Formats: sequence, C-alpha cells, structure tokens
Amino acid sequence: MKKILFAASEGVPFIKTGGLADVVGSLPKCIDSQYFDVRVIMPKYACMKDAMKEKMEYVTHFYMDYNWQNVYVGVLGAKVEGIQYYFIDNETYFSGMKCYSDDPLWEIERYGFFSKALLSALPLLGFRPDVIHCHDWQTGLVPVYLKERFQGDEFFRGIKSVITIHNLKFQGKWDTKTVQSITGLPESYFTPDKLEAYKDANLLKGGIVYADAVTTVSDTYAEEIKTDFYGEGLNGLLTARSGDLRGIVNGIDYDDFNPETDKYIVKQYNAVNFRKEKVKNKRALQKELGLNQDDRKMMIGIVSRLTDQKGFDLIAHVMDELCQDDVQLVILGTGEEKYENMFRHFDWKYGDKVSANIFYSEELSHKVYASCDAFLMPSLFEPCGLSQLMSLRYGTVPIVRETGGLKDTVQPYNEYESTGTGFSFTNYNAHEMLNTIRYAEQIYYDKKREWNKIVDRAMAADFSWNVSAKKYQEMYDWLIG
Ligand code: ADP
Ligand code: GLC
Repeated sequence: MKKILFAASEGVPFIKTGGLADVVGSLPKCIDSQYFDVRVIMPKYACMKDAMKEKMEYVTHFYMDYNWQNVYVGVLGAKVEGIQYYFIDNETYFSGMKCYSDDPLWEIERYGFFSKALLSALPLLGFRPDVIHCHDWQTGLVPVYLKERFQGDEFFRGIKSVITIHNLKFQGKWDTKTVQSITGLPESYFTPDKLEAYKDANLLKGGIVYADAVTTVSDTYAEEIKTDFYGEGLNGLLTARSGDLRGIVNGIDYDDFNPETDKYIVKQYNAVNFRKEKVKNKRALQKELGLNQDDRKMMIGIVSRLTDQKGFDLIAHVMDELCQDDVQLVILGTGEEKYENMFRHFDWKYGDKVSANIFYSEELSHKVYASCDAFLMPSLFEPCGLSQLMSLRYGTVPIVRETGGLKDTVQPYNEYESTGTGFSFTNYNAHEMLNTIRYAEQIYYDKKREWNKIVDRAMAADFSWNVSAKKYQEMYDWLIG
C-alpha cells in the first residue's frame, strides 16, 4: 500500500473558504484505496463548526522549537467517509474568528508553524507517507524542511513531496531576515536560487524549488504561469521547472453536487427531466429572494469570492447596461468591500432584477447552481475554477472568459455545428463580456430548443474526478518509483 499525505490549509467538510477546500475534500476519496492510503492533515481552527470539532479525537501532543520558543503541538484525528484526517492544534496560531487573517507576517508564522509541526508529528502517528502532497503557499515550507532538516533522520529519508499550485497570486512573502528568524532555517537558504525572490523570502517559491514535482490545476494555467502576465514574478522559475510541472484539471464531488439527490434544492432533476423540473427551482428562488416571479425570465448567477481575480471590474463597468436587459442577476459572495458595495448598490437600484447576497452559504450556493439559467464567471485569471463545473453539472450554462481552467472546461457554443457547453469570450474587456452575455440571451429567448441542447451537453460533460484522480495516481507511482 502506497501512503500519501495531503497537507493543506483548508478542506471540506471541516473548513472551506474556496475551491482549495473542495479539492482537498473530494480528491482523496477518489484515489484508488486498493493501492493508496491517502490521509489529510490541516490545522485545527477554532472557527470550525462544533459538529466537526466533535468528531475529532486526541491523538498525541509534544513540544517543538519554533520562532525562538518551545511551542505546544497537539494532534487530533477524525475519520470521515473512510478518510483519516489529522489536525494540528495550537490555540495561539489557529484561534481567530476566521481561518485566514489579513496580516501577511502572521500568516507566514502560522503556516510555517503548521508545516514544521506536521512533519514533526509524523513519527508519532505511525504513518510514514511515501509522498507528501502539499497545496499552495501555506505548505510551501514542507518540501523545504523535508529536504533540509528532516532528511538526516532515518524516518524521513526518501519521503517525496509534490506541491500543487491552486493560485500563484498568493505566495507568502516577507523580508528574508524576519522569515529566517521565524522559521529557523539557515541563512544559506535565503538566496535567489532557493527561497528568495526579489529580495523577499517567498514560501511558495521554496516549495516549488524543493518539491520533487509541481502541479497546477489545469493545462492552460500550467502554460499561462510561464508567461509574464500570469507568472506573478515566478514565471522564470516555472519555465525552468517546466519538465517537472504538469497541469491536472480539477474535478468536483459528483455526490455532493448532484441535482438528482441535492437536499438543498426545492426540486430535484436530472438530464432527462430538466426541461420541466429545473424551472421549479428558479420559481422558488425568485420568491425567496424577492425577485419578479416569472418562469420565463433569464436568471444569471454568480457564486464567488469577491476579488479582482474573478473579473468584477468588468461587471461593475457594464452593470447598468446589463440591467436594462430582460435578465435577473443573483449574486452570492463575500470579499473586497468595493465589490460587496457595488453589488449592494445595484440590488438597491434594481431591486426586482438584482439580488445581492453578501454572505457565505452552502445551501444558497446549491440553490443558485440549480435555479439559474446561466452562470457568469469572467475571470481575469482562473487556475481551474470549480463553480463553472458545478454549473455544468446542474445544467446552468456557464458564460466565462477563456482563461486557465475556464478555457479547458467550457466548450464555447457553436451554432453552426451545434456544439458547446457554454459561452465564452477572449479579451478582458467589459463590452466583449456584455456582447457574449447578450448573445446568450438571444439564444435563450429566441432559440429555446438550441439552448436546451446546450444544457443537454453541459449535463453530459464529465468533470467528476474519474480521469484526473488517475493522473495523480500515475504521478505518485512515478515519484515513488
Ligand atoms: P476559488 O477557489 O478561486 O474561490 P473556485 O471556483 O475554484 O474558486 O471555488 C469556489 C468554491 O467556493 C465553490 O465551491 C463555490 O461554490 C464556493 N463559494 C464561493 N463563495 C461562496 C459563498 N459566498 N457561499 C457559498 N459558497 C461559496
Ligand atoms: C484556487 C483557484 C481556483 C481553483 C481552486 C482549486 O482557489 O482560484 O481557480 O479552482 O483553487 O484548485
């Protein structure tokens, strides 16, 4: 049995702020358990739901040198749906009201602690992974510590590491002296061929340099990040490591996201009966959110973190124009204040057409995926994107910008060949987006049969983990040798 340990800062069903948690929660379940024992380790956050904390049991504890102190490391465990989870517990580091803080230095200290603690805990867990699968900058120090500190120890010798980049924008950067002092790594690691980038220490860079393999979450993003525009300053390094860099497109959990069994939605439906049944969800959502109740009205949904990445500048730019059209817009999201306020403003201005829901709700997100006719995601960049996959699964037609995973997962509608699962545009331009939305409106209103065929194809597309989980397995096999 090959042993794999996922190390991440969030994971469903314990804690989620975005798609990373969906991946960490769903991928391990889809790795072939006949050959692989996959376990997951994450911090134990005070803000996790009580029901989840109640599942955890004490495993062990010890004290570890970190940031010039001898600090407590608790380890808890829980088994959910056949997967063994471990949690690193330390009240100073993980007690906030939210999973992440806004203080970049504090974030480095917290996740540096998590990275060192999870390695230190392994010999006590009776679990020696063959591969540690790290996710994003928060676990960037794992490959570093593993190569430079722990490999001297018999237990750790030969453990391989892989880092998956879910978002290159976040790297964990701070001045080298401070980071060196916190992490206790020798000065010699803070050079431009190792952890240093543009004079700062960079944890993601450390992970990329020291991991045995690097992956990202779509083929297109794997190419894009080698360019200046998408490379966030690390394109040189990623180009140099392109032999070890591969794109593996994300999947979603087809049980959690299934319109036929979804408990959050009013009317379950499937690929055969959606023409009659799906609209009942729209009717219920219009009522719930106080929108005009009209089955025929085209409803466009957005479920998203409200950040620059997601293309909200484009939406802000043409929102007044879009609201002149015969459409309804349902927004669910939280994030940057300027976008929260922008949507609140349009909700106030066009109350019967626009519904801005500025909060986080698993339940409402499922209702939006199920009820809307189209789903808008005009991202500036998008490593993979899961929301459009959820929309496809629910027969809600994605309208996206052709970047990263959006390009790889949404096939643009071609009316001449009658192909495609959604609508897309190329340039980061507000009117190009608006024109594409209007084209979708035209098909929706004037060629309903064509529209329904797009829905047929969207629901037939397979973005379960079937194919991609095998690619991860092949990579683990290759690493283990
Ligand atoms: P990212 O990871 O960049 O945020 P993804 O599309 O990969 O984008 O994943 C976003 C995930 O977070 C999806 O599961 C989406 O449904 C969920 N999500 C985002 N905002 C909210 C919200 N306000 N309420 C509920 N779920 C949300
Ligand atoms: C990141 C990306 C998103 C991706 C998710 C899971 O948050 O922004 O595109 O789908 O990670 O890999």
